[in-house]
Amino acid sequence: MREKILSFLKKHDNFISGEELSRSLDVSRSAVWKCVEELRADGYEIAAIPRHGYRLESAPDRILPAEVQFALGTRKFGCQVEHFESLDSTMNEAFRRAMDGALEGTVIVSETQTKGRGRLGRTWASPRGKGLYFSLILRPRCPVSDAARLTLLSAVALSEAVEKVSGIRPLIKWPNDLLVDGKKLSGILTELRAEIDKVEFVVIGFGVNVNTARTLLPPEAISIKEAGGKVVSRVALLQEILRSLEKRYLALPKEGYGPVLEEWRQRSATLGRTVRFQDKSGQVEGVAEGLSEDGGLLVKMPSGETVKRMAGDILL
Ligand code: BTN
Repeated sequence: MREKILSFLKKHDNFISGEELSRSLDVSRSAVWKCVEELRADGYEIAAIPRHGYRLESAPDRILPAEVQFALGTRKFGCQVEHFESLDSTMNEAFRRAMDGALEGTVIVSETQTKGRGRLGRTWASPRGKGLYFSLILRPRCPVSDAARLTLLSAVALSEAVEKVSGIRPLIKWPNDLLVDGKKLSGILTELRAEIDKVEFVVIGFGVNVNTARTLLPPEAISIKEAGGKVVSRVALLQEILRSLEKRYLALPKEGYGPVLEEWRQRSATLGRTVRFQDKSGQVEGVAEGLSEDGGLLVKMPSGETVKRMAGDILL
């Protein structure tokens, strides 16, 4: 009921009477009033004037499911949005939900995380209400070896969404970090559960520095606000990410990964650059010369030999 009232208020720029709301939704006026009070308690500013009715003045800067789902327009992604004030990690909660049978497209989002984790055992700082920290549950029918390419797809979709919402075009550092001015804007973590070679589910975690102030960021990181000078709506950004991810993901059975890999190359901060990484003989250097069909980074070594990296990290 609250969601329906909210949706009515959002569609009306002007006042809408309690009577009209109660008639349209077939509930009593006191039920309408109770819902309005609940919405106010959630942080919505709702003006109420006798004989005029109610008008939505502003929505809270929280990633509430009703906000995310309003005019989202996706088929699956965001069908279920679970919002938390605080979690240890959205990855853990998403894993629990996925084990319990959560639908593909379920999103777990939290205003802050106490144990946000990154790739390769790193931590992910998650200041409250400033960034976007969420995990998405997928149930692809694919072998485990395809997970690397899903990660590339996620980076492409994230970069596209940031560009659409903020005008900033982040580049992708292999495999899936987004960079602006050489600094890290976001990170993606992919974890999965599988039988021998069949994926049961994949959880993709996204951490984006959205409105985070420089003082709250590590020196090698940047936020959309710092890069563009403007505050961006975290809800609008999450909606755009879900749209972009879904579009790319649902196109896979028909188009395969070709278009994703091509867009990844277009947005790459890595190709053509000298990269350094750790291999069994220690730190080595080479030139990143391509992306293989399975998502690996092809590096030309000083010896002339080309090696393929499938995992790990690189330094630009
Ligand atoms: C990385 O660059 O190392 C990946 C960072 C991924 C961080 C996100 S924040 C939401 C989700 N929950 C986590 O604990 N981690 C991911």
